[in-house]
Amino acid sequence: MSTTGASVTMQDNIFRQIRDFIYEKTGIYVPDNKKYFLENRLSRLLKERNFRSFEDYFYFLKYSASKQDLARLFDAVTTNETFFFREPQQFEVLSNHLLPQVTKENYQSGRKDLKIWSAACSTGEEPYTIAMILLEKPELMGMKKEIYASDISESVLLSAKRGVYGAYSIRNVPPQYLAKYFKDSGGVYSISDTVKSMVKFMNINLVDEKEVKQLKGIDIVFCRNVLIYFDDKAKKRAVSLIYDILRQKGYLLVGTSESLHNVTRAFRPIVINRVVVYQKV
Ligand SMILES: C[S@@+](CC[C@H](N)C(=O)[O-])C[C@H]1O[C@@H](n2cnc3c(N)ncnc32)[C@H](O)[C@@H]1O
Repeated sequence: MSTTGASVTMQDNIFRQIRDFIYEKTGIYVPDNKKYFLENRLSRLLKERNFRSFEDYFYFLKYSASKQDLARLFDAVTTNETFFFREPQQFEVLSNHLLPQVTKENYQSGRKDLKIWSAACSTGEEPYTIAMILLEKPELMGMKKEIYASDISESVLLSAKRGVYGAYSIRNVPPQYLAKYFKDSGGVYSISDTVKSMVKFMNINLVDEKEVKQLKGIDIVFCRNVLIYFDDKAKKRAVSLIYDILRQKGYLLVGTSESLHNVTRAFRPIVINRVVVYQKV
């Protein structure tokens, strides 16, 4: 074991083995120059479980970790930054273009439902934003609306189900939505039960075929600000699994700073009001 002061250091070979283990399980790729990231994020786990070194922790992970231990690892290595109405131009396009188009097509093919999936939902701001937008559309009244929201981190899912937020999360919420769909208890904002009841939270790992395939016939997928943590191979895998569970001509939105160029040719990029959406072809 090597230590620097009170903290344990990670040997380079152990860093690479832990990094590869995380990659294999989640698609998240930690490059060589980010060893400090793993050291920081995992040192708390090491202390909690009384491991003397990262090496001991790695062998534990590899040979005897339970589902809960892996969940703790996923909690530690994921980055969960999010807020309501993030990248609002995408929600404008959802409201004014995608929803009318999708519902028209669904009616024409005899479907009376609408399925949207927030595929890396973190603490829930994204799926709840989608739910509020649907509630603001009276023309969807007779339609069965299903919003699935998933993440690999159990702790963010717990927080999402609780639906209680601070000032940072709600800073982009238009005032009329804030008044209608939140209860303000002195700077702590609880999302209304009506909004909550529209979202079904699940634990889905985006690179796990069996988990993703619990869903099917999805009309629109939001997979924003998560593929940036994957390498190309894992991106391709996740995008191809999303392709499979989308309905024909369904839509995929990634973050505004992300692109599927070089990741897939199975989607057609369409530009609507300067927002790129990907359509399953
Ligand atoms: C930065 S947040 C993005 C939240 C939201 N989509 C947004 O754009 O505001 C990224 C989320 O992806 C989740 N994540 C990372 N790897 C994942 C995987 N393999 N499967 C599912 N979710 C994953 C993380 O736990 C984290 O909550």
